[in-house]
Amino acid sequence: MTSPITTDASVAAKALKTGHLCAIPTETVYGLAADADNQQAVARVFEAKNRPTDHPLIVHVKDLASAKDWITDLPDWALQLANEFWPGPLTLVGNKTNRVSPLVTGGQNTVAVRVPAHPLTQELLTQLANQGVTGLVAPSANRFGHVSPTTANHVEADLGPYLLTKNDVILDGGKCEVGLESTIVLATGDHPVILRPGAITQSDIERVTGLAVSQTVANKPRVSGSLDSHYAPKAEVKIVSNSQIPDEKDAGFIGPCGINVPENLTVLLSAIDNQDYASNLYQALRKADELGLTKIYAVLPEDNGLATAIIDRLTRAAN
Ligand code: TXA
Ligand code: MG
Repeated sequence: MTSPITTDASVAAKALKTGHLCAIPTETVYGLAADADNQQAVARVFEAKNRPTDHPLIVHVKDLASAKDWITDLPDWALQLANEFWPGPLTLVGNKTNRVSPLVTGGQNTVAVRVPAHPLTQELLTQLANQGVTGLVAPSANRFGHVSPTTANHVEADLGPYLLTKNDVILDGGKCEVGLESTIVLATGDHPVILRPGAITQSDIERVTGLAVSQTVANKPRVSGSLDSHYAPKAEVKIVSNSQIPDEKDAGFIGPCGINVPENLTVLLSAIDNQDYASNLYQALRKADELGLTKIYAVLPEDNGLATAIIDRLTRAAN
């Protein structure tokens, strides 16, 4: 084999069932998956990414019924969210069941669980459930701190050589539709708390639950994407207003369309709307490095909703 890439869910299922890793397509970003019950495989996820072991992983399951193997005591409002948004870009953090190993949670008593919507990964989860594997841990399939992958080629660029030497695979499901990681909601109290913004927005959550989202919480758990610097390309990201974009060589531009971009800048992304912005942002950050650009000037999107997640990721990329 010269490339770890496959489009066959049964090849991926076989790899995972036998303790290998498999990068999986989801609607948000590609994840680097391992059987959540297999300690050695889970340990290798941290090794492959060079990720510190105190950064907990999300368990991916087929549906709400399988989620209950891993997460327990969900309040009614969280079940409403699961019923409304699963499969989809929502992760719930709640009390863990005994099945969850401390390796997955970084020793915390809570676990993060989500049901991904990508049809190929749904097929994979169904095949695996028939073979007794009901949960896959899967962090984003990039080296720790780098930009998350939204295509199989991005995964190969970050982790390909490592995966190849270990006979691990990458399941290619095309380009991720949403392009930003899932919304993470803490579901241990009587109000939802957003730990990481994503495509399921605060107003989506308030509409479905009828509850106000709390902005703060005591003993907030750790979320690795909430490190000040994350999602970072090699090029330096600078956030600018649309009237202050410098005209420089070896620099790129990312922003909404309709902006007058100085002529020396390479346009990496000129987004027609926030969905377009979200789904192409990571690709644009990677493109800057491929082109050897040293700086990226980014104009933030307007509006709340999905823009909140875009602004969150760009701000961290700029740190
Ligand atoms: O969209 C996504 O969520 C993607 C795809 C692959 O599903 N996954 C993803 O995984 O973004 P990762 O590992 O890059 O980010 C998972 C986040 C981390 O910020 C982690 O700290 C948080 O989930 N997390 C996991 N378990 C947690 C827990 N028990 N309490 C609080 N945060 C937790
Ligand atoms: Mg990540």
